[in-house]
Amino acid sequence: MKSLFPLLEKNKKLIYLDSSATTQKPKEVLDALQKFYEESNANVHRGAYSLAQKATVEYETAREIIAEFIGAQKEEIIFTRGTTESLNLLASSLGKKLVAGDEILLTEMEHHSNLVPWQQLAKEKNLLLKFIPVTSEGILDMREVKKLISKRTKIVSVTHISNVLGTINPIKELAVLAHAAGALCIVDAAQSVSHLPINVRELGCDFLAFSGHKMYGPTGIGVLWGKKELLEEMEPVQYGGDMISEVTFKDARWNEVPWKFEAGTPNIAGVMGLAAAVLFLQKNFKEIQGHEKELTEYALEKISTISELKILGPRILSSGSHILSRGPLVAFTMNGIHPHDVAEICNRYTIAVRGGYHCAMPLHQKLGIPGSVRASFAFHNSKKDIDTLVKALQKAQEVIR
Ligand SMILES: Cc1ncc(COP(=O)(O)O)c(C=O)c1O
Repeated sequence: MKSLFPLLEKNKKLIYLDSSATTQKPKEVLDALQKFYEESNANVHRGAYSLAQKATVEYETAREIIAEFIGAQKEEIIFTRGTTESLNLLASSLGKKLVAGDEILLTEMEHHSNLVPWQQLAKEKNLLLKFIPVTSEGILDMREVKKLISKRTKIVSVTHISNVLGTINPIKELAVLAHAAGALCIVDAAQSVSHLPINVRELGCDFLAFSGHKMYGPTGIGVLWGKKELLEEMEPVQYGGDMISEVTFKDARWNEVPWKFEAGTPNIAGVMGLAAAVLFLQKNFKEIQGHEKELTEYALEKISTISELKILGPRILSSGSHILSRGPLVAFTMNGIHPHDVAEICNRYTIAVRGGYHCAMPLHQKLGIPGSVRASFAFHNSKKDIDTLVKALQKAQEVIR
C-alpha cells in the first residue's frame, strides 16, 4: 500500500512507524489540496461572484462528507485547527458556565491536550479535577468511576484510544454514567477516528474532537463535533468576521452554528484535504481495519519476544472480529536503555519511531518510567517493517550493553 503515499514512494527505505504522531498523506489528499488552489481558490461565505460561490459550495459539501462519516448533522461540525484547538474551545466555552467547586473528571491516560486546558480552567475558577485511575493492565478502573462522579461533576472528558497504552476506552458506559450525574461527556478521538468506525449517536457522547493529520488528512485542520442543541447554547470563544450575524459600534450578534465558532477565514484548503482523507478512509476502511489488526497482533507477538523489554498497555489479542480490540500502536520500555537512544538507533535503520513522553507525561510518571518508545501502524505498513524493527531493537540492546 506504500504506492498510495507519494512520500513513501520517494523514500523507499523509510519504515514509517509514527502514524500516531501524524499519518503520511495519500495522493488523493495531496491532489485535493492542489485542485482547490488551482480551480476553486476564493474566500468562503462572502463573495457574490461565481468562484467564491464554488469555493463555498465545496467547503460546505466537505462539511457534509465529514458529518456523514461520524453519523452527525452537518451543522454540528465545527472546523478547528485540530484536537487541541477543539478541546481548548470546549474548555473556554463550557468553562464560562462553571463555578467554584464544580468538578471535571478526566483519566490518568490523557494526552496533555485533554488535560492542560482543564487544569488551567480549574486554576482560574477554583474547580476540582479528578482522574479515573489506570490499572496495572493499562485499562481504566471502571469500579472507581461511580465513586469519583458526584453531583458537582459537570464534565467527563476522556480519550477514546490512549496514544501510549493503545487502550480503547468504554465510551458508551462512561457517557451513561456522566449523563446520570447530569454531566457532559467529551471524547478525544484523535487516536480513534481513523481506526474505529465512529457514530457519535451510538457512542452517546456530547462532544467529540479529532485532527485531520492523524487520519491521512492535512495538518492544521480538525473538527469539533457537538450536539446541535448544546452548541446553540454555548458562547463562541473567538470573535471576528463570519461568526457574526450583525455588528454595531456597540455590540454584535452571533451567526448560527457552526459558523458562530468559525471566526475569520478558515483553513479552506485543509477542509478539502480532510474531506478527501475521509473519502479515502471510507473507501478502504474494512481493509485498513483488518490490516491494522493483523499488524498490531503481529507486533505484540514479535516485540514481546525481545528480552528485557516491557510492553505498555493491555495485551488483548484476536477475538475473531475484524475490529481492533486495541489501538494500532505498541509502546514499550527497554531495560537500561533510554527511549531516546532506542529511537536514535532505530533511525540508523531508517525506522521512524517515537521516543519520549508522547505528550502524556503524567501517565509516564504514574508508571514510573522516563518515557517510552512507540511504534504505530497504518495502512502502508507491512509485517516486514515490524521484523526490521525487531532487528533494530535487538541491535540497540547489543550496542548499549
Ligand atoms: C490522544 C490524543 N489527543 C490529542 C492529541 C493532540 O492532537 P493535535 O496535536 O493534532 O491537536 C493527540 C496527538 O498526539 C493525541 O494522541
